[in-house]
Amino acid sequence: MSYPKTRLRRLRYNKAIRDLVDDTNLSTTDLIYPIFVCEGKNIKKEIKSMPGQYQLSIDNVLKTCDELVSKNINSIILFGIPSKKDEEGLVAIDNNGIVQRAIKEIKKKNKNILVIVDVCNCQYTTHGHCGTIKDGDVDNDSTLKNLGSQALSLVNAGADVIAPSDMMDGRVKYIRDILDKSNYHKIPIFSYSIKYASSFYGPFRNATDISTNFTDRKTYQMSFKSSNEALREAEMDIKEGVDVIIIKPALSYLDILYKIKSKYNIPVIAYNVSGEYSMLKAASEKKWIKSKETIIEILTSMKRAGANAIITYHALEVSDYLN
Ligand code: PBG
Repeated sequence: MSYPKTRLRRLRYNKAIRDLVDDTNLSTTDLIYPIFVCEGKNIKKEIKSMPGQYQLSIDNVLKTCDELVSKNINSIILFGIPSKKDEEGLVAIDNNGIVQRAIKEIKKKNKNILVIVDVCNCQYTTHGHCGTIKDGDVDNDSTLKNLGSQALSLVNAGADVIAPSDMMDGRVKYIRDILDKSNYHKIPIFSYSIKYASSFYGPFRNATDISTNFTDRKTYQMSFKSSNEALREAEMDIKEGVDVIIIKPALSYLDILYKIKSKYNIPVIAYNVSGEYSMLKAASEKKWIKSKETIIEILTSMKRAGANAIITYHALEVSDYLN
């Protein structure tokens, strides 16, 4: 049937009808809020490149968690900002490290919040790369050892989910084996299976005080000119036992998200990264766009492309407008 018998606008004249026929829903339970935790007490230091986001000491992380739960946002992803760094990122393995302590405190107070932890070395190395440098290269296999120990130490502290973001080959299997050997077969791995070398991470590096001497991560993160390679990354991680695939960045990569979701029967999370956040903040500060409406449109587009959930710095500010 075609026009004039068919008129697609018939289903758009009334909000209730529009709501009935919509096929994409965004709710607070789809959102994961990133938290940057630092040493000290009563610290709430705004991140210059990300207005509205903060480096928080553990006491303030606890307050943020209470606020999140009160808005029905029940998942966080933690990033540590250690006071000391070293050549190999070994500070991340310290059982009394900043993230480990944060997890313990959060879990003591708030047992039900899902604590996902980013596992990577870049916040902990003096050079800012995601792994151990050998002969001028980020050495894959020695980095795996650090990641495995980091993951185990974080789970020992009470982390619910491990999210490796380093892009070393074989890390899902490596971490899975270590967790299983330690009787942690119930702990899921959400891998950043598909992580592009992206300029959209710029504000995050400022947020986490990552050394920017080397910002080129093209020998391990993917080239944004590459599409089919994402399928291989997903396939390999699935074979290695990944539970959920994270795709990052999100906004310029919805084609990749759709492709992965269409091909594999596995939950997928979109990471609405720092650069996407900061662009929106800058434009709304200038009053060039309507902030709340635009954020909801962007996050809904990620769900529409196939995301089961979204990691987003916008979680708190839009929570009052969602179900
Ligand atoms: C690495 C990591 C990065 C982000 C999350 N985990 C930075 C990078 O790979 O360069 C970026 C997140 C964002 O930009 O919001 N640990």
